[in-house]
Amino acid sequence: MSAIEAIKGTRDILPDEIGYWQWLEQVARSVLGRAAYCEIRTPIFEQTDLFARGIGEATDVVGKEMYTFMDKGERSVTLRPEGTAGVVRAYIENGLHVKGSLQRLWYLGPMFRYENVQAGRQRQFHQLGCEVLGSADPRADVEVIAIAIDILTALGLTGLRLDLNSVGTPRDRQRYRAALVDYLTPYQEKLDPDSQVRLTRNPMRILDSKHPETQKIVQDAPKIWDHLDPESQQRFEQVQQQLTDLGIDFHLNPCLVRGLDYYTHTAFEIVAETGLGAQNAVGGGGRYDGLVAELGGSETSAVGWAMGLERLLLLLQQAAAAPVTQLDFYVVSRGTHAEPQSLRLAQSLRHAGFSVELDLSASAFGKQFKRADRSGAAACLILGDDEAAQSTVQLKWLGSGEQESMPQSQLIEQATSLKAKIQSLTQRE
Ligand code: HAM
Repeated sequence: MSAIEAIKGTRDILPDEIGYWQWLEQVARSVLGRAAYCEIRTPIFEQTDLFARGIGEATDVVGKEMYTFMDKGERSVTLRPEGTAGVVRAYIENGLHVKGSLQRLWYLGPMFRYENVQAGRQRQFHQLGCEVLGSADPRADVEVIAIAIDILTALGLTGLRLDLNSVGTPRDRQRYRAALVDYLTPYQEKLDPDSQVRLTRNPMRILDSKHPETQKIVQDAPKIWDHLDPESQQRFEQVQQQLTDLGIDFHLNPCLVRGLDYYTHTAFEIVAETGLGAQNAVGGGGRYDGLVAELGGSETSAVGWAMGLERLLLLLQQAAAAPVTQLDFYVVSRGTHAEPQSLRLAQSLRHAGFSVELDLSASAFGKQFKRADRSGAAACLILGDDEAAQSTVQLKWLGSGEQESMPQSQLIEQATSLKAKIQSLTQRE
């Protein structure tokens, strides 16, 4: 019988890379926690309408990429392609706005998009995201950007660029769209086929076409900055000023239009200059002042971002070895009395706060010692029937080869000094 394989565009996260994931989560949790953000967990599937209304029918995400199906109750449901719409639904449905004027939220979890699979682009991928709901203050825009940069810096990632734009208000965009279509229409025949379709459906998306010929045409296109009303213009300048005050470098990019329709004013992306190939956006986000009302809540200003964890992982793997959890003891045993005693010893050492791996093979000591060496443990504990009879154990420091015999009870009694020794040994390495 042939083996069943994972679905295209999904992948297992195996033990040899889980250290990166856990480290990433730990760093994110700590940076977000220090800025008073609380975690929120929303369902992985929602009513299809939530995404159709929230993200926009004309977007690729809604038009082409959603995993949508009818459930057994004949309801159309969709695996979430992103986190913002679900967070906004939860905010409205649970009345979070009445629990405090401002909600600072973050989330981490799998998202689903039926995209062409390539390096850094999967069908099930993971996002870390944060959303601030209830503030129109440009400082909120800058705060969320600063948090994203802090997370990336704490992970030791370099070579990243922050691209910034303003997509204005819907009214600004209406004016701009007209000017853009006027400019592009004479070039219609020369645009790539996707952009030709977008000319009527979603002309601003033509600005971020990857097609070289279209890019050339777009170079001289009118810029949205010349179509922002004075208030939008002022807000855009405030965001830039405050980023500069915090020492955050950014690159103004008038062609940055995000792939989701809900954005107003600030739009940004964090791009890896090398190491990711074509899928180089590590994260992106912006302000979405109309979304809460669009989804049935009251007028609420909001801003946030999401980062793709698989892309961060690719960069981390290029930058550093996977963090490993240090094992304190590897317990080897052989003999009818020693083997059951080894189980009790391992258990009591764990209760005393040590990390312990017990060899369950009952194979020759030589084979067990080899595994102890490979385990990365600070020390090996050896238990034969002689030791078992006297309730002693041989403790062998794997770095130096130094070995001593001691009563098993001493390991527990001297746990504090042993832990200090293990810590000093592992730090020295
Ligand atoms: P997005 O730009 O669609 O924004 O996705 C954010 C990030 O998720 C991307 O920059 C990328 O790193 C990652 N990503 C997206 N699609 C894939 C994929 N197929 N495979 C791997 N990684 C992927 C949003 O989703 C918005 N909800 C962000 C936001 C939050 N805006 C405001 N608040």
